[in-house]
Amino acid sequence: MSQQHTKQPDKGLEAVAANGLLHRRLFLTGSGTLAAGLGLLSATPMAAAPLEIPEWMKAPGSHMRPYGQPSAYENDVQRMVGGTPGVTGSGVSFTPLEKIHGTITPNGLHFERHHSGVPDIDPAQHKLLIHGLVERPLTFTMDALMRYPTVTRIQFLECSGNSGRSNLTAQPQQAPLGALHGLVSCSEWTGIPLSVVLDEAGIKPEGKWVLAEGADAAAMSRSVPLEKIMDDAIIALYQNGERLRPENGYPMRLFLPGYEGNMSVKWLRRLKVNAAPTMTRDETSHYTDVVLGGKAKILTFPMVVKSVITNPSPTMTLGQTGLYEVTGLAWSGAGKITRVEVSADGGATWAEAALTEPVLSKSFTRFRIPWQWSGGPATLLSRAVDETGAMQPTRAQFVGEYGERSNYHNNTIQAWGIAATGEVSNVLA
Ligand code: CO
Repeated sequence: MSQQHTKQPDKGLEAVAANGLLHRRLFLTGSGTLAAGLGLLSATPMAAAPLEIPEWMKAPGSHMRPYGQPSAYENDVQRMVGGTPGVTGSGVSFTPLEKIHGTITPNGLHFERHHSGVPDIDPAQHKLLIHGLVERPLTFTMDALMRYPTVTRIQFLECSGNSGRSNLTAQPQQAPLGALHGLVSCSEWTGIPLSVVLDEAGIKPEGKWVLAEGADAAAMSRSVPLEKIMDDAIIALYQNGERLRPENGYPMRLFLPGYEGNMSVKWLRRLKVNAAPTMTRDETSHYTDVVLGGKAKILTFPMVVKSVITNPSPTMTLGQTGLYEVTGLAWSGAGKITRVEVSADGGATWAEAALTEPVLSKSFTRFRIPWQWSGGPATLLSRAVDETGAMQPTRAQFVGEYGERSNYHNNTIQAWGIAATGEVSNVLA
């Protein structure tokens, strides 16, 4: 048998972990190596041929419209609406994370969680009351609030029930990514720093917690530590440049960067400064984390470091073998993402992914890494690290603390199995 040389990959196509993961430099800005890599792309351009004149070039198009809508060809990019038959108003809808890109969630696709439907609030009649342990109780009309100075930040919002038990049970759930992990979205939020408004009311020394109440039929209420309120909480008025949509709290919502979504109370109508948490229904019967041994943690607020590979992801099928961009999202309620690693062999070896700039605090960070699929089976994993040094736990670590029945704060490393047929499924690793 002759000594066949294995063909050495191009300089830019350095393998950095097993099963086809290549160096992230292939996708970094200014890289001269992408062209070399493109030769491996599974979908190559067709040979050049003269273009025909399509129908839409033969007559003028439609007129302008006052409020734009996506192309009709994108009609399948929708929130997945969950709920219980016969129950109106209470439920969730999921952001289709696998069908959008970048880091900003379009307003019409932001996830929803309602406890008693979406109220139809007339802003002219809506008021915000600030009372309790304050020197001067205050009531704000919408007009009065709109005169305050605002801040703008790009930040994620995640339901603490996001990801649920999707990989905790022995049979992992098979569904598109959005239905598994789509109770998280990221927007540019504009609003009034709550510290400004509360300073105006004057907090008494014994005031340590703030009860926030919404104007929905459930009067959804949560207790927030005063420290968080004075740090970076806002009364959000605008989302991605437009006024909040009704399902996201119009005309105003509390927004608590990095905290579990339920606490960013929508349709905000009341803030009461208290000495202690109120122990409302939504922080006792709901939104508590059952641990092994039958006890539960309460008042668990920050959303911890997490990542998911959005593409490829479950229910997709890879086509030809060759070069793929493996991409996904990472986020942490504790600050910035500093590192994301990807494995193609079930966690035996790892490679560092490229992070798309800008990397912002408490925001979505997109990561990507080149992967050469040989056509054999693979298990893709991602794990993120944030600026506090926290890393996502393995499923085994999480189950060791919470068991398989936990409903909240599942930030475990997720695993996607790639079959030799190219079919992608949710697997345990
Ligand atoms: Co919690």
